[in-house]
Amino acid sequence: MSDTAGRKTDHLRIAREEAVETSANASAWAGVELTYQALPEVDLEAVETTVAFLGKRLELPLLIGAMTGGTEEAHAINRTLAEAAQRTGVGLALGSQRIMLERPETAATFAVRDVAPDVLLLGNLGAVQLNLGVGPELATQLAHDVGADGLALHLNAAQEAIQPEGDTRFAGLAERMREVVPRIGVPVGVKEVGSGLSAETVERLATVPELAWLESAGKGGTSWTRIEGMRSPSEAGRTLGELFAEFGVHTVMSLFHALRHGAGKPVIASGGLRTGLDAAKALAMGAHLTAMALPMLKAAAHGVDAVVAEIEAFARQLRTAMFLVGARTLEELRAVPVHGF
Ligand code: FNR
Repeated sequence: MSDTAGRKTDHLRIAREEAVETSANASAWAGVELTYQALPEVDLEAVETTVAFLGKRLELPLLIGAMTGGTEEAHAINRTLAEAAQRTGVGLALGSQRIMLERPETAATFAVRDVAPDVLLLGNLGAVQLNLGVGPELATQLAHDVGADGLALHLNAAQEAIQPEGDTRFAGLAERMREVVPRIGVPVGVKEVGSGLSAETVERLATVPELAWLESAGKGGTSWTRIEGMRSPSEAGRTLGELFAEFGVHTVMSLFHALRHGAGKPVIASGGLRTGLDAAKALAMGAHLTAMALPMLKAAAHGVDAVVAEIEAFARQLRTAMFLVGARTLEELRAVPVHGF
C-alpha cells in the first residue's frame, strides 16, 4: 500500500473507532437559539426544504461532507454514500483526490456517477497542492475525471502541521489561489477540515473573487489534529496532536466569519453539525447549505439504508425546526431571529 493509501486507511479506522471529536461537540450549536413560535402560521405539511446550488436541485440543504477515496474500502464507502445521496436528493462531497495525482488508477475509487447520476457532486483537493506544482489543468482534470459539479480546495494547515508526513508549505498560497482558481474549469470553493476559518482568513479568501463558495468546517466536530496525533509513531507527535486537538475557530464563529467577511459568497456550514436542528440554526444565521461528515461515515458502515435513515432523521428534525419557528421555506428560515452565543 502507498503512503497515501495507508494514511487513508488509518484515517477511516481512527475516525470510526476512536473518540475523535472535540470536547465542544456536545454543545457546539447549543449556544445558538431560535425563537419558538406557538402560533407559527405555517402547516408542518407545507414546509419546503429544496434548494439550488451550482445548477443542481437538492431536496435538503445538506451535503455529505468530504471524506474519502483512493482505496478499495474508500470506494465501497463512496458508493454507499452516493447511493444514499441519490435516493434522498442531498449532495455528496468526495474526499481528497490527491492520490489520483500519484496513482491515476485510483480514479475508479472515486467513481460514483453511475449510482448517483443526479446528485450535486464535489471533487476535493488540498489547496496546498497548488503550492506544490498542481496547476489549473490538473485541478480541472481531477474534477472532470469524477464527473464533479465543482471542486472544493481544503485548507488544513493544522492537520498538516501535526501529520508526520504533512505538506506545510503554505507561504504565498493566497496569491497562488488568485492565479490558479480563475483558470480551473469548474466552480471552485474553499473549506477547512474542522479547525475553522478566522475573520482574517476569510478576508484573505475574499481576495479570490472567483471562489464560488466557502465552507466553514469549524471546530466542534471531528478533530484532525487529534486524529493525526493518534496516528503519530512518536510520543512527541501524539502529545503535539493532543495539545492542538481543541485548537481552532469555534464552529459557530467560523460560520459567522464566513458570512460576515466572505464578500457575500454562499456559505456551507459545517463542523460538528449533528442534527437537523443544528442545521436550522446555521441556515437561520445565513448559511446556504450545511454539511455533515463523521455521522455519515459511521452510518455508511451499516449500509445504504442506514445512511438514508440518518438523512431522513435529519430531514424530519429540520422540518420540525422550520415549523416551530414559522418558516415555510429556507428563505423564510434565513429571516427568523437568531439569539445567543
Ligand atoms: C474528512 N474531512 C475531509 N475534508 C476534506 O476536505 N478532504 C478530505 O479528504 C477529508 N477527509 C476526511 C475523512 C474523514 C474520515 C472525515 C471524518 C472527515 C473533513 C470533513 O469534510 C469535515 O470538514 C470535518 O470532518 C468536520 O465535519 P464533521 O465530521 O464534524 O461533521
